Amino acid sequence: MTQTASGFPDRKAGFAHLRALAERPGGRVITRLFAADPNRAARFTLRLDDLSLDVSKSAIDDTALDALFALAQTADLEGFRRRLFAGEPLNETEHRAAMHMALRAPRGAGLKAVMAGGTEDATVFAANERDKMERFVRGVHAGQQRGATGERFTDVLTIGIGGSDLGPRVATEALTIGRSDQAMNAHFLSNVDGHAFQEVTRGLDPARTLVLVASKTFTTLETSMNAAAARAWIVGALGDAAVAKHFAALSTNLKAVAAFGMNPDRVFAFQDWVGGRYSLWSPVGLVIPLAVGWDKFQRMLDGAWAMDQHFRDAPLRQNLPVMLGLVGIWNVNALGCATQCILAYDDRLRRLPAHLQQLEMESNGKHVMLSGQPVGWDTCPILFGEPGTNAQHSFMQLVHQGTRPVPVDFILAAAADHSRPEAHRALAANAFAQAEALMVGRPEAAIRADMQAHGASPAEIDAIAPHRVAVGERPSNTILFKHLDPFSLGRLIALYEHKVAVQGCLWGIDSFDQWGVELGKQLANGILPELTPGAARGSHDGSTTALIERFLALRGDS
Ligand code: F6P
Repeated sequence: MTQTASGFPDRKAGFAHLRALAERPGGRVITRLFAADPNRAARFTLRLDDLSLDVSKSAIDDTALDALFALAQTADLEGFRRRLFAGEPLNETEHRAAMHMALRAPRGAGLKAVMAGGTEDATVFAANERDKMERFVRGVHAGQQRGATGERFTDVLTIGIGGSDLGPRVATEALTIGRSDQAMNAHFLSNVDGHAFQEVTRGLDPARTLVLVASKTFTTLETSMNAAAARAWIVGALGDAAVAKHFAALSTNLKAVAAFGMNPDRVFAFQDWVGGRYSLWSPVGLVIPLAVGWDKFQRMLDGAWAMDQHFRDAPLRQNLPVMLGLVGIWNVNALGCATQCILAYDDRLRRLPAHLQQLEMESNGKHVMLSGQPVGWDTCPILFGEPGTNAQHSFMQLVHQGTRPVPVDFILAAAADHSRPEAHRALAANAFAQAEALMVGRPEAAIRADMQAHGASPAEIDAIAPHRVAVGERPSNTILFKHLDPFSLGRLIALYEHKVAVQGCLWGIDSFDQWGVELGKQLANGILPELTPGAARGSHDGSTTALIERFLALRGDS
């Protein structure tokens, strides 16, 4: 046994110990844990106000939990948390802090970020920019900021990709779907696929459309090309001078923004201590208050800040992001699960899995430690998800009966914002039933008895019963809260942000960089000029060369 009161000698020993614990006889049998502890549901549920995180249906017991906390100690999670909130450059490969919490903290919170030129009061920087955003949003809504023809803006088109799209899109959808009280209609353009531009601008009136170009770097190919197309669309309809009135930029790269010809009053800045996938709280999220109103946006920030304070201050054992992160580590590193399913039983959260895919997989999809040495353990699982109940009628078959366990996070609000309580009860019944079915399964004996009671012949029973067996003992967590509103939405997204940080700390990796996406971008930039008729061909592998030639031939361009 290598675990001691102060943790393990190193992470490797910790992860080996977790694997050994999972192999204990009965170590994965969740139903047995419930049978042994009538108080299990309460003991393995953490609360923050109306928000509860129930991890009791995960295959985890006190011994496993102790080992996970020992590993957290080995990884100095408490020191990491202190350094995160102190604004230290935890993003070591880019020499940057990860201070997105300052975007939702009140002006006086005093969160600092260590930057190249010294230390900045990040909350003051963020609050100043937030004030500017608020003035702009209120001005647009009041009709003080109008388009080139003097018409009021009714629509906002946000152009951005990745973190400059997914977070703002999730939040806007969550707060507008099913409602008729939004201040403006929000539209999103991310893909460089021309069909997307064509589709999003179809039916939009340029004279009443405000265009936001959201890009941290302002160099992303997709966003640059889409912004240029939108510019041509506005200029074509309203003339060159309209650009100043119809565009706003949300970026850290003020030089590139100026080169685009942006009106300086319409530039909303943030600093490099905000990672792309954490930027919905920054000016990148400007579409959110434009669509739902400033006060709701502020409530969303307040919700996230409530989670920040909880993560920063609560003891590790009562800390929701810590618990969510540790249970995830158990699933990956002890049980060997390679995937994680996100099932929000709320249609308004239909893009949440996409946002969490970027948040988790871009952050923690890493193969080397901060030291540059290969990690000796698995890191981020593959995330996927759909809204419940739709998922039940597509991929949940595999989750119930496939050969590999897939841990699930169920997410549900107790109250709905529509007038069909029976529909919400049906939604909730399905969420609870799925989690229960995953855990308790259905043994062959029960199926045989049931088939017999329904008059099936012994031969029929022998043939069919094995196919109906659900082995059960499949882990899940349930996140339940009162109502999906701006505050609870902010809190929920921040919960996952901090979960990612916790896991990155335990895995010993840099959760805040994303070097893996660079190579593809570079190669695409090289291939792009080769796709024009008659262009010189670069040197590629045989398959890529053949595909380029075939593409040109099919287009009649070769
Ligand atoms: O390619 C990945 C990425 O760099 C993400 O990290 C980021 O959210 C996205 O591209 C968009 O980047 P930007 O906001 O700089 O346009």
